[in-house]
Amino acid sequence: TTYNKVSDETNFFGNTTPVELIKEYGSPLYVYNENVMRERCRELKNLITYPNFSVNYSVKANGNLTLLQIAREEGLNADAMSPGEIFVELKAGFKPEQILYISNNVSKEEMQFAIDRDILVSVDSVSQLESYGQINEGGRVCIRFNSGVGAGHHEKVITGGKKTKFGVDPNFIPEVKEIISKYKLNLVGINQHIGSLFMEGDKYVEGVKSVLDIAEKFDNLEFVDLGGGFGIPYQKLAGQKRLDLQDLGKKLDKVFFDFADKYGKQITFKVEPGRYIAAECGNLLGTVYSIKNNYGMKYVGTDLGFNVLKRPVMYDSHHDIEIFRESNVPSTKSETVNIVGNICESGDIIAKQRELPEIFEGDIINVLDAGAYGYCMASNYNNRLRPAEVLITSEGNAKLIRRRDTFEDLVRNFE
Ligand code: LLP
Repeated sequence: TTYNKVSDETNFFGNTTPVELIKEYGSPLYVYNENVMRERCRELKNLITYPNFSVNYSVKANGNLTLLQIAREEGLNADAMSPGEIFVELKAGFKPEQILYISNNVSKEEMQFAIDRDILVSVDSVSQLESYGQINEGGRVCIRFNSGVGAGHHEKVITGGKKTKFGVDPNFIPEVKEIISKYKLNLVGINQHIGSLFMEGDKYVEGVKSVLDIAEKFDNLEFVDLGGGFGIPYQKLAGQKRLDLQDLGKKLDKVFFDFADKYGKQITFKVEPGRYIAAECGNLLGTVYSIKNNYGMKYVGTDLGFNVLKRPVMYDSHHDIEIFRESNVPSTKSETVNIVGNICESGDIIAKQRELPEIFEGDIINVLDAGAYGYCMASNYNNRLRPAEVLITSEGNAKLIRRRDTFEDLVRNFE
């Protein structure tokens, strides 16, 4: 190979290398590994032994059509957050009955979009249930509850609990029942999502138990959807451990079997992970164009602005970083640097005060675990072009799965 892998990596890049990928497809570049994604899907499908179980890929984490097709091939279903997500999921071949539209503060037209396609809608408030009843009397419906339990890596992504906008407060169950009978609705499921990224399964189990207390108050449910939030270790280079899925699976199994006994029927349980499926199968590559010292701090200037990966700026998120180099000259020392992007804001920092092997102009930066909430949160800020996406197939070959934006894309919608 013509590059120098400064730190350890798996054969994530298959038959190619970061340097070759950038030469072929340009920089910056999102790269996904098909095998890693399939492996994550399989782990989740085998989480429990309880028979009526479904894994819904939360496609908001990464809505690339090819990745959706992979998830579908692996036997996953999908959730949707918007008509746009429904549109792409149908394009990826998901059947309407495989999709749950988890709406949040939407117009009747948006609900109708799902109803017209035979897609089940989850409503997020008593008033939205009323709106739904008005347009789909006698129809099937799902309700999102907020059982009071929340968890997450940052307060912006804790969606359950007593201080968030999501779900129906269970104190309003009498009002819910009234509207259900007024419009002869068939409440087939309830769902919740406590938040994004837990590393201890017990918090999830606590959330599951509390939403099942709510489920008990309704007869004839077909399913309970327990939400996502399954965490991945973003600090692998520092030895961070993985979420213990086996242990979580065992605990869930017990809760599910017990509940089915009590409820008197084999209700279906769904989980709804996004990050766990997409994060680790994606890396983000960028290029170092400038190195400078400003008042004692070394800045490594790259094309990895927050228009490309927003997580570090939005949530102070940590992503591990590796350095690749075309020459075979290894770095001889390490140093503490700020890795920054090319956006005109001083907050445009992808890695703060990070200790790394010495970095030079022309080096390739590999940002790990960037597959979830990476491309989908990218923007055209500063009229920058969103990057291309490439898949490393199971055979190890690179395949373009989304082209880079063009300048024409920037002016397409102007009248
Ligand atoms: N279900 C619902 C209703 C959700 O709102 C979410 C995520 C998920 C499932 C999937 O959660 P996951 O398994 O991916 O944790 N942009 C943030 C994460 C936002 C998550 C929003 N909701 C980030 O980059 O960390």
